[in-house]
Amino acid sequence: MDKRIKLHDKYFVPYISQDVLMKAVDDVAAKVNADYKDSGKIPVVICVLNGSIVFAGLLLTRLEFPCELAAIRVTSYEGTRSTGNIKDVLGLTTDVDGRDVILIEDIVDTGNTIIKLCEHLAFRGAKVVKICTMFTKPEVYHYDRKLDYVGMEIQNKFVVGFGLDYDQLGRNIPDLYILDENLSENDMKYYILFGPPGAGKGTQAKLLVDKFGFHHVSTGDLLRKEMAAGTPLGLKAKSLIEQGALVPDLVVIGMIKSEIENNPNVPGFLFDGFPRTTDQAAALDEMLKGLDQSVTSVLSISISDEMVKERIRHRAMMENRPDDTKDEVIANRIRTYHEKTEPVIDFYKAQGKYREINGVGTIEEIFDKVCEIM
Ligand code: IMP
Ligand code: MG
Repeated sequence: MDKRIKLHDKYFVPYISQDVLMKAVDDVAAKVNADYKDSGKIPVVICVLNGSIVFAGLLLTRLEFPCELAAIRVTSYEGTRSTGNIKDVLGLTTDVDGRDVILIEDIVDTGNTIIKLCEHLAFRGAKVVKICTMFTKPEVYHYDRKLDYVGMEIQNKFVVGFGLDYDQLGRNIPDLYILDENLSENDMKYYILFGPPGAGKGTQAKLLVDKFGFHHVSTGDLLRKEMAAGTPLGLKAKSLIEQGALVPDLVVIGMIKSEIENNPNVPGFLFDGFPRTTDQAAALDEMLKGLDQSVTSVLSISISDEMVKERIRHRAMMENRPDDTKDEVIANRIRTYHEKTEPVIDFYKAQGKYREINGVGTIEEIFDKVCEIM
């Protein structure tokens, strides 16, 4: 019998069976009972929606001391864009001031969510906050804070079932299933167009979009669009840019993530102008990993500094960008490129994903070389 299941575009195979999970719930409940049963404390048990509904329900019926139940939801949205930062904790109507709190989570992955939540509860006056999670992925958890009660440690793979979802599906499955990477229809391509200003990235991107139907993601364009539309993100970006500050990586990553999520039917994405630093490259990797995806390859169009200068000046005239005609502005952009952006090359070389194309030649010649690599 084929035990595979399909949720959206991905396949999952059985990983941990229901009876093993139930045994783990029994064990966790016993540990929590040992700490609270004769303590005289009346903790507030907080279920973090939606994922922990299943675990919290099972655990709750096994607790042998008086406790209150509350539920919260965390959102990582700012406007309509996910930033990966907890912005809001919704629905907590119980006053936790001076109380013992037990936070119930389905899964602790990097730990970002739960740690921020602990800080939030401490801020609201909680006396002690304990973390109780059904699953944890020790390979990726990166905080010193010890997890107080853990049902099971699992490998660093995406799982569904027992309350956990893949894009809202799979929560009702009673066993835990794990992503089958071999079977997933995961042909989505993520190309990074790389190269100094004036190398012809934008030109090549247009041709690639026409030929392959890729979705072009230019972070500069995205930010300008947000600013023009006056979204909360756009307003924030505008004030930062006006102060001469950079828009934080997380915000940019959040924008890219929603571009990916809002365009599920394209064959791939072309990132242009991002990542510009190794920090951004690492953040992009992390974000794509969260979507169970990864960078396909980096196509770098290389030209000499002299040619960069020539092309920027030429473009400044054609597109009426007076700033770009100033020598020191151009020199500065080239310097920033060498210092900040070139290390990104090594980052992707280390992953075996870096491909370089000589950017000298006609647009068609370079396009042929790009297509060959793709
Ligand atoms: P963290 O902030 O990285 O610890 O992520 C925690 C949240 O990510 C969980 O509450 C889940 O909603 C989600 N998550 C992490 N790993 C998985 C998984 O393997 N399957 C389904 N959801 C997951
Ligand atoms: Mg969750």
